[in-house]
Amino acid sequence: METVSQKQKKAETAFEILAPLKSRWSPRVFDEKPIPQNEINRLFEAARWAASSYNRQPWRFIYAKKGSKAYDKMIDCMSEFNQKWAKNAPLLIFTAYKEKTDEGDDNFHALHDLGLSLGNMSMQAESMNIAMHHMAGIDWKKAQNVFDVPEGFHVTTAIALGYYGGDLNKLPEDLREQETGERERKPHSEFVFEGSWKDRS
Ligand SMILES: Cc1cc2nc3c(=O)[nH]c(=O)nc-3n(C[C@H](O)[C@H](O)[C@H](O)COP(=O)(O)O)c2cc1C
Repeated sequence: METVSQKQKKAETAFEILAPLKSRWSPRVFDEKPIPQNEINRLFEAARWAASSYNRQPWRFIYAKKGSKAYDKMIDCMSEFNQKWAKNAPLLIFTAYKEKTDEGDDNFHALHDLGLSLGNMSMQAESMNIAMHHMAGIDWKKAQNVFDVPEGFHVTTAIALGYYGGDLNKLPEDLREQETGERERKPHSEFVFEGSWKDRS
């Protein structure tokens, strides 16, 4: 068995940050060990306590464990590329948000809130040695149907979860290089502006 070491993927940060922010990354292969229900509950509990605009908590989650019918249906809603690797994850989550406020207005901040809740979840997961790999590559309209998502809610992403330390050789060859590659980020100068917008690109 060949695994990718956590050290190898650790962020080369420009300034010191919290350890779990540095160590998290998005693997495409996971340890086969299932995630126990209590640990799954802890992940959703972390998401639950995120801040949200007017405390509206517009996030929604559907999850399925490997081996269940719902799991296979989730794989079926993914892009061909994501199916190739996500099918080995012990746990899958589909995320959604509530589009309107209770007053019937568009909730412009719902995606912000969903993202915050997932940030919470990812830090909780990291503390439990669980990796999360988010996916935009899904057929969200199909997912709305397959999972009986009511009108007014919008399926957003899928997430593959599992303990770090999967066998690299389980990945198709074309994905192995990315799995061991360095992680990169834009410099602060491209996204942080003091006083007023300074970037013209
Ligand atoms: C909203 C979102 C959508 C993503 N969609 C996909 C996807 O469909 N397939 C995939 O393999 N990775 C996907 N990723 C993973 C990103 O490519 C990854 O987070 C990015 O390259 C940074 O790598 P890191 O998470 O290891 O730091 C997605 C990530 C996010 C947050």
